[in-house]
This record gives sequence, structure tokens and C-alpha cells, in this order.
Amino acid sequence: MKSIVESFTYNEFNDIKELPENERKLVGLSREMTKSAYSPYSGFRVGAAVLLDDGTIIKGNNQENAAYPSGLCAERVAVFSASALHPDNRIKTIAISAYSDRRDSKKPVSPCGSCRQTLIEYEKKQKTPVKIILAGEKGKVIVIDSVADLLPLHFTNIDL
Ligand code: THU
Repeated sequence: MKSIVESFTYNEFNDIKELPENERKLVGLSREMTKSAYSPYSGFRVGAAVLLDDGTIIKGNNQENAAYPSGLCAERVAVFSASALHPDNRIKTIAISAYSDRRDSKKPVSPCGSCRQTLIEYEKKQKTPVKIILAGEKGKVIVIDSVADLLPLHFTNIDL
């Protein structure tokens, strides 16, 4: 038996002001997208903005449904749209923000397991890392260099 330790480093900023201009813009757009989220059941609004390698930005937000599992997270709405509309472009960065109608939402939102799995599909396909920026309504921002960091021992096409 051997024990294996996997760890990763990420960067935390006190405010988007500390980020480079293009990342600041991306977080701003993801925050803007929380406003038009369709989340009447959870009251939890998530916005996402995806930056492609040619500078195109694709936005999305969570879309809920009375039949709960039929809804979709903001990250997947945005990334599926990016892949559908720009299948040959690489995804450079995704910014994700959240706003709760019910409580304080300064804490950066972290993508759910299904979104991590979805994002890693594109990271593997394009063979370059997808940077993830996590934010709340305001304040602290977390920057992670690769989706793979968020999903150790991930399942991919090579496992099939
Ligand atoms: N949600 C997202 O959009 N992204 C995540 O990564 C976590 C959760 C949405 C799904 C649902 O509409 C609401 O937040 C509450 O779970």
C-alpha cells in the first residue's frame, strides 16, 4: 500500500480590482448574468462568462424547472453554448458568480461536481487548461489555473 497526496495551489484576491482587465471584465459579466438567471425555486442566481481564444465571450446563467432535475447550472449553459456556437475555439477562462435572493452571497461560488466533469471534457479535448475564476456578489475572488485541479482522479475518454 502507498499513500498518495494530491494538492494544488490557487490564488485568492480580496477584490476584482486586483485582477487583470480582461478577467475583471469577465467576472463583471458573470455577475451581470446572475440578474437574468431563472431560479425561482432555489432563489440562487448563478452567472457564467466564458472567454474563448479569439476573444469571444459567451454568457449563461442557471435555468431551473418545476421538474427540478431538468434544470441546468450556469456553467453548463454557458459552456455548452460556447461549444455549440464555436466548436473549433478553445476555452481560455470561465468566470462564475452567484447571488442569493435569500442571504448574503459574498462567498465565491464553487462549481458542482457535474459542472466540473463537464468542464474537464473541454479541457481534455482542447489540450490546454481552462482557468476558473470564482466570485460572489462582491469581495473575494478565487482563481484556479486548471479544471483538472478541481477534479482529482477525473474520468475522461481515455478511460472508456
Ligand atoms: N447552480 C449552478 O448554476 N452552478 C453550480 O455550480 C452550483 C449550482 C445552480 C443550480 C440551481 O439552479 C441552483 O444553483 C441551486 O442549486
